[in-house]
Amino acid sequence: MNLIFFGPPGAGKGTQAQKLVETQAIPQISTGDILRANRRDGTGLGLEAQTYMDRGLLVPDQLVIDMVGARLQDSDCEGGYILDGFPRTVAQAVALDEFLEKRDSSIDKVVVLTVPDGLIVERIVGRRSCGNCGAGFHVEFKPPAKQGVCDVCGSELAQRSDDTEEKVRVRLNEYAQNTAPVAAYYKQRGIVREINGVGGMDEVFGRLTEALEN
Ligand code: AP5
Repeated sequence: MNLIFFGPPGAGKGTQAQKLVETQAIPQISTGDILRANRRDGTGLGLEAQTYMDRGLLVPDQLVIDMVGARLQDSDCEGGYILDGFPRTVAQAVALDEFLEKRDSSIDKVVVLTVPDGLIVERIVGRRSCGNCGAGFHVEFKPPAKQGVCDVCGSELAQRSDDTEEKVRVRLNEYAQNTAPVAAYYKQRGIVREINGVGGMDEVFGRLTEALEN
């Protein structure tokens, strides 16, 4: 199944994608994670993306389109994939369609997670992730057993540089201006499944799996 996980920052796209990866043998392709890895490694792409990411702005379309196009050609995507954080503009959605059409492929479902802005800020400001293995936590909603330490590998947990309240507001604005219209782009195909993202992580996952079956 070829899936897009869609929704505002902090809606739970990454959290739910990771849960689905555990039950389906398909990879999660998070453009945010790939960009952050490039930034850590100091690649040209990472350095170019950094100036946008640090301000909470979207990275230019062509950089992300080329990056995802390359990733989708990896053999682990042959049986399906979860696109997490892409497409984020209508231009990215059009480019994805062109890429898939050339390969006689298409997107099966677009999952839209909805969460009110107030809760988004709370989720993002409290998010912590492991710089070593990438495991995600939340100071209140998913605390690690030992404060500041990853349950999985024992490394130090860190806060993303764009996870401040000020930058979340910028990211929410980017979402409203540039990303929300992408949902309408897919809606006419009848493949959009809107899910209430409020509630416990397992509760939301139950809604997600039900929506994917219909
Ligand atoms: P990206 O990394 O994609 O960030 P985002 O879309 O802002 O999404 P987040 O990762 O913040 O949120 P999420 O929905 O995955 O939530 P999560 O599951 O972690 O992008 C970062 C930047 O990269 C962008 O600003 C841009 O610059 C650039 N970029 C990326 N893709 C791009 C593209 N296509 N085009 C251009 N630029 C691009 O959950 C958040 C927190 O809440 C966690 O702590 C979690 O534990 C907790 N939580 C989750 N679900 C629940 C729940 N049900 N109950 C309680 N807590 C929960």
